[in-house]
Amino acid sequence: MTQPDNFAEHNIHLETERLILRPFKDADFDTAVPFYRDPEFLNMIEDEPPDEPVTKEYLKSAGKYMRKDGYLFAIVEKASGRAIGEVCLQWMNLERAKIEGEKIMRLPIAIWDKTLWGKGYGKEVVQCLMAHAFEKLGIDRFCPVDVPADNVRSQALWESLGLTVAREADDGRMLDYEITRAAYEKINRKTS
Ligand SMILES: CC(C)(COP(=O)(O)OP(=O)(O)OC[C@H]1O[C@@H](n2cnc3c(N)ncnc32)[C@H](O)[C@@H]1OP(=O)(O)O)[C@@H](O)C(=O)NCCC(=O)NCCS
Repeated sequence: MTQPDNFAEHNIHLETERLILRPFKDADFDTAVPFYRDPEFLNMIEDEPPDEPVTKEYLKSAGKYMRKDGYLFAIVEKASGRAIGEVCLQWMNLERAKIEGEKIMRLPIAIWDKTLWGKGYGKEVVQCLMAHAFEKLGIDRFCPVDVPADNVRSQALWESLGLTVAREADDGRMLDYEITRAAYEKINRKTS
């Protein structure tokens, strides 16, 4: 049973050194909207930014799509207590990235406040959710998809965690990344 304001409709709470990942709430959309009106932020995530200013309803409809087949979290900064972004650990829904017999997940992520980019928060979130996906959900392959080819920061994030480009899409405008369970376990093998 989830709380009435629990938009994500799951009860998973995770924690890293500096961040908390908690189920996304309805009120988090209000926090997100002003950031989604920043052209620099929008350019990072959208191939073609929407014509109209982003509204709460627009974000909610995208959120409903994500929660249907995934776990949508708010990223909360422990130091400030603020929700600073969103991330969804989502079952693969793109035909081009599915593999018969494999459990595969993707991971749309956005830190809304650009003054917080490049501080290692993205990497902290992804390390935590990759561990959850491989070790708790038993996935075979982790595949962040639709990474804009000009989003250098996002590419650096995936590559810093050992992911490689699986394919180009949309005439080279988008890249799909991946890491297999075997590669994940090799990188994260306990040394003790
Ligand atoms: C993409 C995003 C999640 C990355 O998170 P972040 O907190 O900014 O990134 P981190 O600080 O964790 O950096 C991760 C890696 O990328 C590198 N990196 C960060 N910024 C970089 C930049 N501008 N250029 C090159 N490398 C960069 C870091 O050095 C780090 O690698 P390292 O650990 O080997 O040193 C975040 O910037 C964001 O939300 N951006 C807006 C939305 C977006 O682009 N979402 C992804 C859409 S596909």
